[in-house]
Amino acid sequence: MKEYKLITKILIFILILMIGSSFIVGMFFVTGIWLPDDNSSYLDNNQIHITETPKPSITEIKLKYFENCTKESSDPFLYPITKDEGLDQDYVPKVIPTNLTGGKEVTESIIPYLKKLFQKAKSEGINLQIISGYRSYQTQENIFNSYVNSELNANPYLGYEDAVIKANIYSAKPGHSEHQLGTTVDIKCVDCTAFTFSEKNIEVYNFLEENANNFGFVISYPENTTEITGYKYEPWHIRYIGTELSLKYKKKNADKEIKQPLQKFLIDTCKTGNYG
Ligand code: DAL
Ligand code: ZN
Repeated sequence: MKEYKLITKILIFILILMIGSSFIVGMFFVTGIWLPDDNSSYLDNNQIHITETPKPSITEIKLKYFENCTKESSDPFLYPITKDEGLDQDYVPKVIPTNLTGGKEVTESIIPYLKKLFQKAKSEGINLQIISGYRSYQTQENIFNSYVNSELNANPYLGYEDAVIKANIYSAKPGHSEHQLGTTVDIKCVDCTAFTFSEKNIEVYNFLEENANNFGFVISYPENTTEITGYKYEPWHIRYIGTELSLKYKKKNADKEIKQPLQKFLIDTCKTGNYG
């Protein structure tokens, strides 16, 4: 009889312990103090807080870059894009079709200037065609990777890193192409093969050299500037920076045999704060 009483007491004690611990665990859930830890979020007052370190925005990156510059200088359309400084993956400008020969998309604000450039060329008997306009980060990544692969295919003994270096002389890494701005285009003669130095294309390049600045565009990678820009001469690649600045650029380089690369000009412009 005595043994039965003891066993009953132990069973009741265990039961109380189980009920008690269930109650405590239940309370943790109800109050939200204890939740599965997935390292990315927690609940507080029914709101989700993302605890991942946020990526710096394009503005933050630019402000860091332009430490000594005024805020207006960090307008992405004047941002000097180099091999070191680039655009955020999320930087996606609003672009629309150019409706010019070759099509492609660019930001709306540059279309009137692009149209005038095309009209001026036509008046001189030159028919232009757009080869490339806005390119997203992802598109640039695909293009760059395909160039790396063609370098590897052309030379099977080339290591991957060397293939990247080779491709990067004529193609920007994702985030480092001015095409991501939506204000940059590549141009060729309408019946020509892109990116070649055929007679008709050279006529186009000479036209751009003479006229692009009058319509707000600058050839970003001029001749003999590879050591500074890291890219080969690209007479077909023009970027819109506004007529005031493009004319200032033209004036500054008028009597120079080797032109100042656009990136350096934009950095200097920013540092001096002189945009006129
Ligand atoms: N070809 C130039 C460098 C670009 O990929 O943006
Ligand atoms: Zn280009």
